[in-house]
Amino acid sequence: MKKDNNLRFNIPIAKTAFTEAELDAVLKPLESGWVVQGPYVQEFEQKWSAFTGAKHSIATTSCTTALELSLVALGIKPDDEIIVPAFTWIATANVVEHLQAKVVFCDIDLNTFNIDVNKIEELLTEKTRAIIPVHLFGLSADMAPVIEIARKHDLLIIEDAACGFGAFYQGKHVGNFGDTGCFSFHPRKSITTGEGGMITTNDDKLAVKLRSLRDHGAMTSDLQRHHGSKPYLLPEFPYAGYNYRLTDIQASIGCAQMNRADEILEARISLAEKYRTFLDTIPWLQCPYHHVEYQHGFQAYVCLFNPEKITTANIETTHKKRNQFMEYLQGKGISTRPGTHTVHLLEYYRKKYSINPNDFFKALVADHCSIAFPLFPTLTGEELNYIFKAISGFSI
Ligand SMILES: Cc1ncc(COP(=O)(O)O)c(C=O)c1O
Repeated sequence: MKKDNNLRFNIPIAKTAFTEAELDAVLKPLESGWVVQGPYVQEFEQKWSAFTGAKHSIATTSCTTALELSLVALGIKPDDEIIVPAFTWIATANVVEHLQAKVVFCDIDLNTFNIDVNKIEELLTEKTRAIIPVHLFGLSADMAPVIEIARKHDLLIIEDAACGFGAFYQGKHVGNFGDTGCFSFHPRKSITTGEGGMITTNDDKLAVKLRSLRDHGAMTSDLQRHHGSKPYLLPEFPYAGYNYRLTDIQASIGCAQMNRADEILEARISLAEKYRTFLDTIPWLQCPYHHVEYQHGFQAYVCLFNPEKITTANIETTHKKRNQFMEYLQGKGISTRPGTHTVHLLEYYRKKYSINPNDFFKALVADHCSIAFPLFPTLTGEELNYIFKAISGFSI
């Protein structure tokens, strides 16, 4: 790679937004001695429900385990078919595989990078049980048609809202549209606890089952038992559950992050607006989808590198050019990444399902030609201008 001698910055793709508050937060559970699924997990769940408007929030160890618990709690069985967008992080499909159910990929809409709702119905069979719409990069999937299809065909909806913090659709936060919504607190996400996840649901019975399943199948949590009248008796276990309990150390960090939730979201939206204003002058980069019914949470700022209409004939050339652009920016100390990957191209899925890459052509285009630019609340105006200048200096 050619190094730029005038390099002035080294800008990562993402940076965790920790302050003194998170540093103090780590100490609190350690001082109290209660470090697993205790008062801070409860507080984090309450804060999450207050922000998203979901009736129940159930913390887990990751979004992956949140998705898995949702599928188990909703009764997904081997051979059930689950519709999953082809362009997503591999975890969305892996959880289906873990239950010996069948992943049925659906192509995406290149304007939004989310599931193409017009392609879902043609994939349905007698075995279809659920749809997992993904709210990629902080943009809600088009939920009204997804809900309509699910109602018509009696299907479950599990929202993969890993990137969905701050994503609203028709005025409602994601995680409120399906049977469950599953969020991630991985460091690339807008709110982070290191690792961590959250399930939201508005179904009381399902919430009880999910709480039990994440805690070995126990009907009473340790916190409830210790504060109850008979702490010396162990609870009943109606399910063969899992240990997907979040620690209080992580939850305490989560609480500190949620105290600044609006500030974190506003910072991301404001940076995204600056990107848009600048990128409107660059015709070969398609900006993130913008529509009055959607509020984008901007977990990532992902564009389509699209100098001309991408076809099967020119996709490899465009892909090469996108990679040259990424290498050029890396040489200037600016990190970029592909938006995410398309799962049908990954070895396990390629081999198991014998899929032709062109079967989901738009997912293939997103895989080969998307580009995420640096976005994190502490990104400075100076760094942003440096990025803009660098982009302007690239000739396609
Ligand atoms: C769309 C999507 N789904 C699921 C996950 C898995 O989240 P976690 O790492 O919290 O398990 C991710 C994480 O990157 C993701 O982006």
